[in-house]
Amino acid sequence: MKILFIGDVFGNPGRKAVKEMVHKLKKERQIDFCIANGENAAGGSGITYVVAQELYKAGVDGITLGNHTWSKREVVNFIDSDNNIVRPANYPSELPGKGSTILEGEKGKIGILNLMGRVYMDSIDCPFKAAERELEYLKAFAKVIVVDMHAEATSEKCALAWHLDGRVSCVLGTHTHVQTADERILPCGTAYISDVGMTGPYDGIIGVKREIVIEKFITHMPSKFEVAQGPVQFNAVYMDIDEKNGKTVSIERIHQVMDV
Ligand SMILES: [Fe+2]
Ligand SMILES: [Fe+2]
Repeated sequence: MKILFIGDVFGNPGRKAVKEMVHKLKKERQIDFCIANGENAAGGSGITYVVAQELYKAGVDGITLGNHTWSKREVVNFIDSDNNIVRPANYPSELPGKGSTILEGEKGKIGILNLMGRVYMDSIDCPFKAAERELEYLKAFAKVIVVDMHAEATSEKCALAWHLDGRVSCVLGTHTHVQTADERILPCGTAYISDVGMTGPYDGIIGVKREIVIEKFITHMPSKFEVAQGPVQFNAVYMDIDEKNGKTVSIERIHQVMDV
């Protein structure tokens, strides 16, 4: 089973890159499922119904989120009824949405699990315990399980990957918006990368217009972030997973800069 996972899609430039790349890659590489982190898909922060539909139309099959899940408040109106979108499973359980889901394709089912780290982030529930709880359910339905670990600290992402080695197909880091070059397959068949990177503006500062961010670092005055313009980067990983046992055979980083 071939899976493409796209890192944090950022604003309109990120969505344009998704439109440019996903259908093409799906055809070229016989991709069965495309999953994208969409926490920044609407204007650089959060997701709306229209934006989610735009991603699906562009070939995305499943959407994961992160600390910007609730930034566009309208997400609470559709997150429960959309089976293909997940938010971190370790958010308080009474919040709308779900932490995991199961999608079905020609080669069978996949489970998608979204978790969020707690180091330099909100002090929500334990992602390790949340993973155990969700896996108990997911394992009954799917052998192939994709985990998006949305976190700041590489140590926390790496620890989760080793903790889950052999029990999930991959642990893919998101959130920092910077792609890391440490993709590998752990001894028991779980693919890992500390961060898939961001799909969005290439010349901004993690997606934001750079003048605004530089000014903020210098003055510490509040400012309104704007999505940067110019060339766009597409950051993703492409994995080949054995659907019979859920173990990953290969993981490849994709980093492409383009004008869209
Ligand atoms: Fe992000
Ligand atoms: Fe994030």
